[in-house]
Amino acid sequence: MTNIVLIGFMGAGKTAVAKKLAHALGQKLVSIDEQIVEQEGRSINEIFSTQGEKYFRSIEKQIVSQISHGDGLVIDCGGGTVLDAENMAHLKRNGTVIYLKASAKTIFHRTKNAHHRPLLNVQDPQAKIEELLSLRGPFYQQADLVINTDEKTEKDVVQEILKALEKNS
Ligand code: S3P
Repeated sequence: MTNIVLIGFMGAGKTAVAKKLAHALGQKLVSIDEQIVEQEGRSINEIFSTQGEKYFRSIEKQIVSQISHGDGLVIDCGGGTVLDAENMAHLKRNGTVIYLKASAKTIFHRTKNAHHRPLLNVQDPQAKIEELLSLRGPFYQQADLVINTDEKTEKDVVQEILKALEKNS
């Protein structure tokens, strides 16, 4: 059974949607960020501040290569996971990759009160979101399926994914 892989920018709703989707499908949920935190025994903020983003990305890559051998999983990626071409290739090999798309405005509103994302702990998070979103757009668009999440509840998004998966099966 192929995996279902959720990608998209921070705040697009990947984690919440992945949980609900895994539950609806009776499939096992795997969060790449959670695996990194578990393996390292520290938060993502701590990893970034002590060893930097490059180190974080190397652990992220290790985890992706391990879990992409799994079967029938719902995989919740970090926002930057698919910037690495090998990560994308691993995830696509046995997975339907779904891009949860959101506008910069939506992302800003969804992320402004959370402080666990080092890349957005900057003076002007709105500008940072716009900058990163335009750089990352082409990577996210490599997904098999794109779902717009603006002005939708998590439940709406899950329903939309389930419908799309049914149609493609
Ligand atoms: C990142 C997104 C985060 C986490 C890390 C880096 C990114 O995951 O992996 O802070 O580069 O966009 P979420 O998208 O789940 O917040």
